[in-house]
Order: sequence, then structure tokens, then C-alpha cells
Amino acid sequence: MTLRTLDSLGSLEGKRVIVRCDLNVPLRDGVITDDGRVRASLPTLNALINAGARVVVCSHLGRPDGAPDPQYSLEPVAQRLSELLGVPVAFARDTVGESAQDAVASLEDGGVVVIENLRFNAGETAKDDATRAAFAEELATLGDVLVSDGFGVVHRKQASVYELAELLPSAAGLLIETELDVLDRLTEKPERPYAVVLGGSKVSDKLGVISHLLPRVDRILVGGGMLFTFLKAQGHAVASSLLEEDQLETVRGYIAEAAERGVEFVLPTDVVVAASFSADAAHETVSADAIESTAFGTSGIGLDIGPETAARFAEVIRGSKTVFWNGPMGVFEFPAFAAGTKTVAQALTEVDGLSVVGGGDSAAAVRQLGFTDDQFGHISTGGGASLEFLEGKKLPGLEVLGWA
Ligand code: 3PG
Repeated sequence: MTLRTLDSLGSLEGKRVIVRCDLNVPLRDGVITDDGRVRASLPTLNALINAGARVVVCSHLGRPDGAPDPQYSLEPVAQRLSELLGVPVAFARDTVGESAQDAVASLEDGGVVVIENLRFNAGETAKDDATRAAFAEELATLGDVLVSDGFGVVHRKQASVYELAELLPSAAGLLIETELDVLDRLTEKPERPYAVVLGGSKVSDKLGVISHLLPRVDRILVGGGMLFTFLKAQGHAVASSLLEEDQLETVRGYIAEAAERGVEFVLPTDVVVAASFSADAAHETVSADAIESTAFGTSGIGLDIGPETAARFAEVIRGSKTVFWNGPMGVFEFPAFAAGTKTVAQALTEVDGLSVVGGGDSAAAVRQLGFTDDQFGHISTGGGASLEFLEGKKLPGLEVLGWA
């Protein structure tokens, strides 16, 4: 089966089109700090506006507890969307209540409304199928068709992603199409050498992707908080750095499997160790086998890969034809510990082939560090979703759109 796309819905003029976007953007004091996901939703929304549809945008934001919580309101996102689309965007103060019903009823052809955070309703994320289905029924009263375009959430079996797509005529939007085109290139005959760069804090989040990719890639580079579990697995002391003791055996298994398969595991040879987890903490760069030799002894915390490692990673990345990167190399939010992430990002911009930045923190990192989207082959809007795709998992939000 193939993915149903926008043309399968026929003429949308005058129709109420619910668009499930992923507008889950980072906010600080009510201000959007990275609007990448809002920008990524524009092609589909513009296409629908130009087709004369009445556009009902819905999304989740954060993880509220199934009830309204002002810090997770989509209102700032609706404002940003209006600026970027260059048209007025109405905002409904609830998701399926009176405000949403009225706002949708007032829409003219080509008009846009954003309804309030889907997760203010317990039915959106309910474990129980019937509760999700009941919420999807309520959502369905707001539209004639559904365009599913929230790639970042297709790995979640949630009411607006799954049940709603079964209830209404539904198809994927342009963002999902683009994401799948690129991720397919990473799984179907990627050009070699193929390198995967993994960072972020937890090894346990990356286990599926490591085991699925080991037989498929040539090089795996490991940075971020998860590197310390790898160093410990190799017998190095890691002081007070992040460590997942319960993953040590699994990690040793990966290192052994990589050696058997001829896959190169590129692990850090030096790290930046700090006195504490703070932006202005005293820090030293040391060899990866001497982490406890700093002035901070066993209380030192590794917060970035060192310059020798960063240079080696950059060399391996530039020498690859396909590169997928997920997870920062260090605590890039603190300038003193951003160098590793910056060097890796720079190297990705120099790849003579396909370079893909996989969502979430890595996307935020490259933009915060001053890179622009067009410097990379693709910046995915999906963190968890792109990883699960590469793990070879079946994603409910894609299956329901015909993707197999
Ligand atoms: C994401 O940020 O990865 C997506 O928006 C999904 O959010 P969730 O992990 O809270 O479901």
C-alpha cells in the first residue's frame, strides 16, 4: 500500500480541512525559541489556503496532563503562524468546545483557525482505545477531511493521529511526504560510506536504532551524555558523568557486534569535564581514560566531547556520503560546552552527499548555534519519530495513511 497524498482528497474548496500538525515548539517565558516546526508546516497550509479550504489546525504542545494548562497554550504558536503565513489566524480557546465550534463555523474559504492544545483533553493520549475513539469523534465534528502532517508525532497512537484518520477521509500532507522521501533514502540503498552520529543523554533511547542500524551502516559515532556508558563499558572510570549502569552489558554487546561486522564504532578519545552542571562551571579537557584525573576528581561531570574527538568526528563525517545525526554532542545550551556539537554540525554542512539532522534537540542545536536549515540536506521535524522510522518500526500514524 502506498501513502495517500493530498490529491487523493479531491477538490478541497469550501471544505473544512482539519490539519494535524506537530507544532510542539520549545517555549521560554511564552516566547518560541525555535520555530522550525511552524515553518515546516507552511507548505501544506499554504497549499490548502490556496485551494480555498477552511483550515482547522490542531496540534499538541508539551505534555500537559489531559487538562488545560496555560503554560502549554498554543496561542503564541497561532500568532507566529499568522506572521509566517501572512494571513490572519483565528485562535479557539478550547479544542472541541464552544470556542472551537464557533471559530470553525465562522471560517471563510481560505481562512485559518488554530484550536487549543489537543492534549488538554485526556482522550487524545488515553491508553484505552474506546476513550481515544470517543475524542476522535468529537474532533471529527470540526472537519470534513483530515490532512495528517505532524511527522514528529506519527509514532504515537493518539486520537488525532490515528483514530481521527480512520473516521474522516484522510491523507498525508506535504511535510510527511518530504520526511518520508528523505528517510527512505537513508534506509533504501544509502550511498556509502554511511555514518550515523548519535548523541543526547540516554543510551536507552538509542538502543533500538543502534541494533537496527548496525548491520546497515559503516560507522557509528557516539557523543553526548550517552558516551559515558560506552566509555565505562570499555573499562574507563567516568567520575560523576551521566551513566546508565543497566545498559553496560548491552553496550558491550554492540561493541562486539560492530567488531564482527566490520562496523567502526568511533568513540571519544578526549572529553570536557566540569566541576558541576552549570554554564559557568570550571572545566578541563582530559583524555577519555583519565576522567577522574581532573581537579574535580570523582565529582567531575563530562559535559562535552573534547577537541581531538570533535576533529576526528568531523573528519569521519566529511569522508562519508550519507550521514544521519541525532542528539547533541554536549550541553550545547551552555556556550562553554557547545564546541563539540558545533564542530559536528559544521562537518555535516560539508558532506558531499546526503546529511540529515534528526529532529528535536539536534535541530534546535544547529539553529541555536547559528546554522541555517539550507546548509543541511534535511532537518527532520521528528526526533522520536525519525529514530523509530530508522529502527524499522511500524508507525501507527503512517500505517493509517496507507504507508506500508
Ligand atoms: C516530539 O517533540 O518529539 C513530538 O512533538 C512528539 O512529542 P511527545 O514525545 O510528547 O509525544
